[in-house]
Amino acid sequence: MKEIAVFGSTGSIGTSTLDVIEKTSEINLKSLVFGRNVNLAEEQIKKFKPTYIGSIKKNDSKYLYKKYDFIKNYFYGTGIKDLAKGVYHDIFLSAISGSDGLASSINALSNTRRIALANKETMVMAGKQFNKIAEKNEVEILPVDSEHSAIFQCLIGEDKSSLKEIILTASGGPFRETEISKFKSITPEEALDHPNWDMGKKITIDSATMANKGLELIEASYLFKVPENNIKVIIHPQSIIHSMVKFKDNSIKAQLSKPDMKLAIQYALNFPERETAVINDMEFDLDLSLTFQEVSYKRFPTMKMARYSLKKGGVLPLVFNRANEESVYAFLEKRIKFVDIFEIIEKFLKKYENKNIKETLTVDEILSFDEKLKKDIQEGIDKRCY
Ligand SMILES: NC(=O)c1ccc[n+]([C@@H]2O[C@H](COP(=O)([O-])OP(=O)(O)OC[C@H]3O[C@@H](n4cnc5c(N)ncnc54)[C@H](OP(=O)(O)O)[C@@H]3O)[C@@H](O)[C@H]2O)c1
Repeated sequence: MKEIAVFGSTGSIGTSTLDVIEKTSEINLKSLVFGRNVNLAEEQIKKFKPTYIGSIKKNDSKYLYKKYDFIKNYFYGTGIKDLAKGVYHDIFLSAISGSDGLASSINALSNTRRIALANKETMVMAGKQFNKIAEKNEVEILPVDSEHSAIFQCLIGEDKSSLKEIILTASGGPFRETEISKFKSITPEEALDHPNWDMGKKITIDSATMANKGLELIEASYLFKVPENNIKVIIHPQSIIHSMVKFKDNSIKAQLSKPDMKLAIQYALNFPERETAVINDMEFDLDLSLTFQEVSYKRFPTMKMARYSLKKGGVLPLVFNRANEESVYAFLEKRIKFVDIFEIIEKFLKKYENKNIKETLTVDEILSFDEKLKKDIQEGIDKRCY
């Protein structure tokens, strides 16, 4: 029996993971961490009976700990990272949304055998450091992002030196065809209406701006140790091909399925085995149409900015990530417009690109730099002076 921790249990990835665990006899949910959705968390706790729990608020964690005898200890706030470090798990599923996921992902590297990584911000903010600690501690990193899972699957059995190019696919989100002149009036409700995927709010807005693909580009570069110019991004509106890999003999391998995150989750939990399907079968009928489009930087400037951040390195991927995250929250609260997201990221990249900050930071330095960055960007957004 494998023991798993699910961090972000009440979210889109978290609930899908619990569905997968329910259908897998060999996995036991040892630890469960959620944010604020105490009602859903309580339902999950009653069903899965975890030994350890954590949440944002002390009162929520304490209430559940007192009510259920099988819970042996509880954690809260930034203390959830102590659960990640202090309790052993065979698999640690990192699915807290945004930059809040970094500290527990890093801490989990000291006490697990496998990280199933959904939280892409971990790789964007601290990819090099994360890889180094994972290698030292012999922790396997299994990507849960569907694109990275596809690439991971395509690379199995291949010699790394024969890899020519990674081809990341993108749905293009809800505004792939919208006239750019209409972008300034896009509302959060419109941006949250993704055509193919049902996901958390932050990643859904990121898909609409294509910042999500920018984050995935950076994630792929660190995860597979491939430079920026060997990663192509193409729009594939049907989201059937989850990504591709081209080899030096010009052969291309792809991974296809219906768009359902449960497949990538199931694969990450069970690798190297494949288990019986938890997603619907995809009929390969003659009507199946797979189309592709170039990404327009004019429409989606986030893609250009993500490439620039990755190429320049240093703290720029951190700035790209944080400026995007704070703008997304401000847009969801209707404090800024959709197009302001592009402007804010650009302004902060310019502001930080020539600052004399050392090239490689330690994890602690990243966390403290990111805290200052968050404050600076939040102030900039509040005062509208970037
Ligand atoms: N959804 C997808 O299809 C998908 C695909 C690929 C990658 N990802 C990545 O997976 C991660 C999760 O995405 P999601 O769509 O599942 O997000 P989501 O639906 O918004 O869920 C986020 C989860 O994190 C919890 N959480 C947020 N802040 C927290 C904190 N400070 N401490 C503890 N828990 C906290 C939330 O708790 P409450 O809800 O209880 O507040 C919720 O359980 C993101 O990094 C995303 O980029 C998602």
